[in-house]
This record gives sequence, structure tokens and C-alpha cells, in this order.
Amino acid sequence: MTDLSRRDFLRLARDGFLYLSSALAFVGFLRFLDYDPNPTTKTEFDLGLAEKYPPGSRTVLDEIPAILIHTESGFSALSLTCTHLGCILEPDAEGFACPCHGSRFDADGKVMHGPAAKHLQSLRVQVTIENNLKVFTV
Ligand code: FES
Repeated sequence: MTDLSRRDFLRLARDGFLYLSSALAFVGFLRFLDYDPNPTTKTEFDLGLAEKYPPGSRTVLDEIPAILIHTESGFSALSLTCTHLGCILEPDAEGFACPCHGSRFDADGKVMHGPAAKHLQSLRVQVTIENNLKVFTV
């Protein structure tokens, strides 16, 4: 068994710390090189067959986030992004509530009280020839 002097132990600890710091800095540099400042955002969402959404239904689409509404006049969709500062709204019995600053929207997406000043954004809904539903965010 070798005796490790205090000086040797400190040298080993220093070298180990330097190697570890260098490795972490190198990993950070690799992540920096892989950074994409403009990631592509999905703007088209295929919801499957229209029969999955019966008349009278209101379906929250978490992926977008939005709500798909099916009435006698057809399909429509509202964004669930608050028009104040972009928090995700929570549907309730009267419409939609913002958990961040308390804005309220009615079931049609109209502002009931602020701080939000704009109504919810309507999203384009398309029924394809194959009877599939698509929602577009732009
Ligand atoms: S983000 Fe909704 S009220 Fe501020």
C-alpha cells in the first residue's frame, strides 16, 4: 500500500477538478454548436376522422393548444393561448379562465374581463375529402 502525501493528494484533486471542468465546458460547447435559434414550428394538425367529434362536442386539443367546437353550423376552433401574455387557458363551465392574471373569456372566446383586451384567436378548420379534420394555427 502506498502512502499518499498531502501534496500528492492535493495535486490529484486539482487535476481531477481541471479534467472534470474541461469535460463539462466541452459538453457545453457541443450543445452551443447544436443550438437552433429558429426551430420549425408545427402549424398544421391532423385530428383524424371527423366522426370522432360528434355534434355538440367541445374537445380540448392539448398539442396545439386549442379547443375544437362542433355545432350544427360545423366545426370551429379557438386557440387556448391567452391574448394577454400567452398563458394556456383552462376551460370551465362559463368559458375559459387564465391562471396567470385572471382574464376570463366566454365560450365563444370573447373577453369577459381583462387584463386581456383581445378575443381568442379563431383557428382555421378544414374537413378533407377523406373526412379528416385539420386545424391550422396560421
Ligand atoms: S396571460 Fe392571461 S391574463 Fe395575463
